Amino acid sequence: MQDIYKSSLLPLIFKRLGADPETAHNQTLKILTWLTTDPTEKPYWAQPTRRFAQAWLQSACSLSSPRLAQTLWGLAFANPVGLAAGFDKDGAAIQAWPGLGFGFIELGTVTFHAQSGNPQPRLFRLPDDRAALNRMGFNNRGAAKLAERLLAGYVKEYPIPLGVNLGKSKVTPLEQAARDYRQSFDLLKDLGRYFVVNVSSPNTPGLRSLQSKTQLAPILEALQSVNQGHKPLLVKISPDLAWADIDDILALIEPYQLAGIIATNTTIARTGLSTHRVRQTGSPVTQTAGGISGAPVRQRSTEVIRYIYQRTQGQVPIIGVGGVFTADDAWDKITAGASLVQVYTGWVYEGPWMVKKILQGLLGKLDEAGLETISEAVGIGH
Ligand code: FNR
Repeated sequence: MQDIYKSSLLPLIFKRLGADPETAHNQTLKILTWLTTDPTEKPYWAQPTRRFAQAWLQSACSLSSPRLAQTLWGLAFANPVGLAAGFDKDGAAIQAWPGLGFGFIELGTVTFHAQSGNPQPRLFRLPDDRAALNRMGFNNRGAAKLAERLLAGYVKEYPIPLGVNLGKSKVTPLEQAARDYRQSFDLLKDLGRYFVVNVSSPNTPGLRSLQSKTQLAPILEALQSVNQGHKPLLVKISPDLAWADIDDILALIEPYQLAGIIATNTTIARTGLSTHRVRQTGSPVTQTAGGISGAPVRQRSTEVIRYIYQRTQGQVPIIGVGGVFTADDAWDKITAGASLVQVYTGWVYEGPWMVKKILQGLLGKLDEAGLETISEAVGIGH
């Protein structure tokens, strides 16, 4: 099925639905939502299609094994592969994700003020590099709308851990960032199972400067003053930071009771790409603003994971993200020190069967390494 997806369906999606990749993305969310709506809901003619689609997706995309399960921060993760932030910012397809085999999902980035993001086009595919380039700019309906959606019932019995990724609204000056993050957190703190402070998107002016110790500390202070350590709070960092900047962030873990680090977001580097021009615009990639995701960020993200694991002596859980397409990629990140991994670009290129394939591959890796459970593999590459 994966071969058919790659050889026929993906080109079709890219060429037909995807004259514009953002339209293709939104269509995918709509189709997933439609297919995974409660099968007893109207219209009646759709019910058998939904029942069939759900049963089929479940068997094609999911794999359950106690060897892949872990408990982190008191949350049960049935498997270590999650959906990365940015795919479902507003929770549009929230009921679809557990059936697609994910061990956890991260909604957002959500900002306190609803915002439309950057002008389109703002999402580009670089198929020759197995990559994407985006400058979405946190387009989202705002924290209050996400809270409404979660309150509408999805969150109570949601079967997998659901994280919420918070960003700064574009209209809020950098000096007032702490309040902006706190206002979003206030609305959502009872609804997400873990929270992420995103200070690493390259597409909100000045946002990445909030990764500096002096600017990040007041944000964490503001959030923990409301949270009081109840919900796990993680920071998502950029792959473009120098080691010294990462050290500064790690120094905040203890004073602000951070639960973990997510490494990494997209990169602004343009090195090693074989694509010279963005197909949709004809502009050189080097002069197209935005962050690169997918295969080109894989190695750097794994290096960052390895560095953090080593500096924290494996004491702080890391969620590894960047260029995961295969079980080998996931295994590299896990053995470098990631307890969990997330996928975005790889999932688009590989198709919805990817999670199951990775999980099957990870079980094989455990056998090869003579290990019983995935948690035993975390950091064994050190
Ligand atoms: C992202 N990513 C992202 N990250 C984040 O923290 N908040 C966000 O809103 C977004 N939005 C977003 C949009 C698009 C179109 C892409 C491709 C990516 C980054 C994402 O979560 C992840 O960190 C990187 O994409 C690296 O992982 P992959 O894509 O290589 O698996």
